[in-house]
Amino acid sequence: MENSSDNRKVVLTCAQPTGKLHLGNYLGALKNWVSLIEGNECYFGVVDMHAITIPYVPADLRKNVYDCVAQYIACGMDPQKCNLFLQSSIVGHTELAWVLGCICPLGQLERMTQFKDKSRKHAEAINSGLLYYPVLMASDILIYNADIVPVGEDQKQHIELTRDLAQKFNFTYSDTFKVPEPYIPESGARIMSLQSPESKMSKSDPNQAGTLYITDKPDALRKKIMSAVTDSDSEVRFAPGEKPGVSNLMCIMAAFTGESMEQIQADFAGKGYGYFKKAVADVVVEGLTPVRERYEQVVADKSLIEEALKRGNEAAQRRADKIMSKVYRKVGFLKI
Ligand code: TRP
Repeated sequence: MENSSDNRKVVLTCAQPTGKLHLGNYLGALKNWVSLIEGNECYFGVVDMHAITIPYVPADLRKNVYDCVAQYIACGMDPQKCNLFLQSSIVGHTELAWVLGCICPLGQLERMTQFKDKSRKHAEAINSGLLYYPVLMASDILIYNADIVPVGEDQKQHIELTRDLAQKFNFTYSDTFKVPEPYIPESGARIMSLQSPESKMSKSDPNQAGTLYITDKPDALRKKIMSAVTDSDSEVRFAPGEKPGVSNLMCIMAAFTGESMEQIQADFAGKGYGYFKKAVADVVVEGLTPVRERYEQVVADKSLIEEALKRGNEAAQRRADKIMSKVYRKVGFLKI
């Protein structure tokens, strides 16, 4: 998986170990990442150091890391074909973050929308880590000299900062980092809550009947889909503004079957919502059952998860070491 002598691109992305993944994570992010494995050198990081910037419980963090890696593997991240690594195991992320922090204007961090949002939400505990978060993220990316960084729309500003810091470092100390490209797939399905289809499907939705988890059992999936909010006419038609609930169900169906909206509309003309919902439920259950079954196997096997991380960590560390020794030399740190 680790090979710089060919011309494969280096793909890097990371996610916080936040527990259960929902259908929005799966269709909007995970499936895209998995599609990049073939033909590229991929690094997928679980960023536990980012997870401690807001109040948390250490025992939950430990459990969530195992759970998160099990779900990744279940979604198709074959640890033999890509490098799954744990941020806190790699020496260099925080070292590089320090160096980058020393060229990063404070004002730029204070203006980050995610910092402003999070510090409003956690007003009782605004720590410096929360402010420094984007610098650590820039370090996660630059330490692998990644070509492609698949992220969601909400991370665009952080990638901009990463590009600024890479350019500033290159200008100040001579060419070192590739300036990474964000990769925001336009076709990335935007899955909405089944209960309030104006907002994104979310783990923190107060009405959990609106959120489908990839590890939900068939009965639970069916029940939530059958009670999804629709509208008062009965036409299966794609019109997100006017018919957000039905349009969302159509998106979900299309994401699994690869059909176009026109096709779905034609298939369900005159059939009514009950019939359509049942068909959506069938498709989702069929698509997620192998994922859930694989998850159940993997999560019960801690050693498999640890082996996967060990392999990925070693590859990640080798790549990080190369870049860090360059960085330390360029900034003037003596190697004694
Ligand atoms: N901030 C990202 C998020 O919340 C997670 C993240 C941390 C990340 N480091 C990264 C994403 C590096 C891509 C690359 O989603």
